Amino acid sequence: MAADTDCAERGIGVISTRAWELATAFGSPGVSSAVLFKLTAYLQMPPAEIPLDKLSKDILSDSGMTAELMRFANSASFGLRRKITDIAGALRLLGGSRAVSLLLASGIRSAGRSSLRRLPLPLQAWYQMRTILTASVSSVFAEKHYKLSGDTALVLGLLQDMGILVLAKALGTQYVGLIERSRTYGMLRLQAAEREQLQLDHAEVGAALARHWQLPNQLTAPIRHHHDSEEDGNGRGEGLAYVAPMRIGEAFSNLWDNRHPSRHEALTRLLADCPANGSAECQKSLEVAASRAAEVSNMLHLPVPPENELISTCQEILASSNTAANAS
Ligand SMILES: [Fe+2]
Repeated sequence: MAADTDCAERGIGVISTRAWELATAFGSPGVSSAVLFKLTAYLQMPPAEIPLDKLSKDILSDSGMTAELMRFANSASFGLRRKITDIAGALRLLGGSRAVSLLLASGIRSAGRSSLRRLPLPLQAWYQMRTILTASVSSVFAEKHYKLSGDTALVLGLLQDMGILVLAKALGTQYVGLIERSRTYGMLRLQAAEREQLQLDHAEVGAALARHWQLPNQLTAPIRHHHDSEEDGNGRGEGLAYVAPMRIGEAFSNLWDNRHPSRHEALTRLLADCPANGSAECQKSLEVAASRAAEVSNMLHLPVPPENELISTCQEILASSNTAANAS
């Protein structure tokens, strides 16, 4: 299949016909492909080199995007006394890279909204919490421990499990049962259960969706490989440096959902492998991630627990992980 060859050449790996079909049936992104293409191009530039004049013009060419950026800039998160009234002011406040990542985050959320509503209410809340925690933790670890762009990692964190929504839309109650089992049984990993029952997983389906939306390799390859074994994931394709913080983010969400010892162990192992992995540094990063989760949720109108609850849970998780590490 031509698409398979194309993906193999791009370092994305083989994507099955079934995954392509599911991704195609899922539909379009929340913003037009042209806008998405322009925004992701900015995300690939070093933040200091993003041309704000050009970005401003691109944003102004889309009225929905313009309104969304103004809403972000005037959100309570910044506590400004004076209202921001133009795009240039909004970009000065947010910075080009953060503005682009928030606009992409908003588009991703819109794209998934109708599929999310097909899930039972408790699973809607679960998915929203999972993605925001994964994205926030991944973003902070990318920035502080791996010296990567936190804004790119935030977008990747929101995208990496989009395959879950694709599978939920296509398979309905069969897939809902699979999610519920993986939440109940702490030893069970969702992607492993998907592979066993469906012969594909949300990473493969999510990468097919990213290609269908014409996202760049820098985003598609890490989505595809975020559940590979370490030997499989290393050194292929663009953007794979982001896989490590993505895994930390998802391991944190898995543990948030179910405090099973095997999930503590998984997070502990990943934290042990990350640069600047001292207990104090990791604790500080998780606290910053809690603040980021609250800020991003607020901007995207997503429900989150109060920030102090997030921070105390992060501390509890980290303390338990340290205990598990010391005991092993
Ligand atoms: Fe995942």
